[in-house]
This record gives sequence, C-alpha cells and structure tokens, in this order.
Amino acid sequence: MQHTSPYISKPVDKNGCVQYTDSENAVWQTLITRQQQIIQNRACDEFIHGLKQLNFSTNRIPQCPDISAILQETTGWQLEPVPALIPFDYFFELLANRKFPAATFIRRPEDLDYIEEPDIFHETFGHCPMLTNEACAEFMHAYGKLGQVASPQEQAQLAKLYWFTVEFGLLQTKSGLRAYGGGILSSKEETIYAVESAIPERKPFDIDEVLQVTYRIDELQKVYFVINDLSDLFRLLEIDLLKIIKK
Ligand SMILES: [Fe+2]
Repeated sequence: MQHTSPYISKPVDKNGCVQYTDSENAVWQTLITRQQQIIQNRACDEFIHGLKQLNFSTNRIPQCPDISAILQETTGWQLEPVPALIPFDYFFELLANRKFPAATFIRRPEDLDYIEEPDIFHETFGHCPMLTNEACAEFMHAYGKLGQVASPQEQAQLAKLYWFTVEFGLLQTKSGLRAYGGGILSSKEETIYAVESAIPERKPFDIDEVLQVTYRIDELQKVYFVINDLSDLFRLLEIDLLKIIKK
C-alpha cells in the first residue's frame, strides 16, 4: 500500500541549513513553548538535561548543523536531513553511523496537535535530548548495526523494539513514572496520557512480549513498556536479539 502524505522535507542548502518561513517558525514557537511546560515532571531527568544542553531557540526552528555540533561533543552523533520517509535499510545504516535521520518539514498549524509523519519538531525536540545521553546513544548505535545484518522480516521485528523504547518508552524513577520516548515527549496529549492516564497498560519491559505486541501508529498507545534504568536498553543488545526474533 502506498503511503501518501501532504508533507515533504524542505531542501537543505550546502551548509545543511533550511530556510524556514515566519509562519513555520511560529508553529515551532507554539509547539516548543507548550511542550516545555507539559514535560515538567513527566519527562525523565536525562531528557530534561539533554534539552538544556541543546538549548533550542523558542523563536525559530533549529538547524541540523547546530544540533549536530552539540551531539558530536556529547555522544558523537549527528543529525542527518532526510526525506519524510526513508527505507529501513537506509535508516539502519544511518544509525549504525551515529547519524539520526531528521525530516526537515514542520507540521501545518491545522495539524498542531498530531501528525502521523515525524516532522522536525518530533525529530529534534522529541529525540535529540536522549541522543545526548550515553546509554541511549549507544543503544541506538548498536541497534543500527544489528538492523544492518537483519533480514527484512527481522528488521520489521526490530522496529517493534525501537517503537516501545526510543519512541514510546517509559522509565520508572525514584520520583515516579517518567517518559523517555520521543514519540511521547513530542506529543502534548500522549505525554500526559502515557504518564498519568489510567487507560493504557504499563508493563515491565520484556523483550519476548514486546516482539508479540502489535501497535498502531495513528492512535494513543494501548500498552507501554517500562524500564528501570536507561542502561537496561544497552543490556538488551548484549543478548542475541536476532536469535530471539527468529524463535
Ligand atoms: Fe521518532
């Protein structure tokens, strides 16, 4: 089935920068101002710390080279501008090279609360703070390398692991439940819902169970998996995941 989207990435100049319009920057301003409030006491400390390091402007959309400079210093990662949707193989190749793919467009004002496609707000605000965290950055690097040697079927299973960690992961902390997933933390509604609502199920992270679950990308999650420490992520990759997937 062909996925159609009204969004395409904006072109980058020779320096890797994008020319955003005033109205696009205004969307960013609305999103970041709102979300900075909402994540308080709902995002994990590591995310808040990363956000401080990235020091995003509230007035204009950040540029990939500026973010890359900070990520390079902290964990050696970079942000790579890409078209809105990219093939699995290319995705894994980028991660294996410590490059995080970022679609450069921003949602329209009428899609402020939700879009299916990842936009630059999701990629930067949602994902880059955790890319400053050593455990998370190493996990994503190792995940990319694993994806490179996986078959297409195995890659589809690996996508579930990514979904329930990097996108929709929850962390149990001394201060209570917190989110670290970028899919949660770039969404106003899901940030509150994932951490506080009585509706979704929250299960201790279990790889066998994660690989069994089916999920929808176009609605709030019905189940979240909770880890106790970000280093649990990296330990996951020390087990023979491809063997578990084959099983
Ligand atoms: Fe994402």
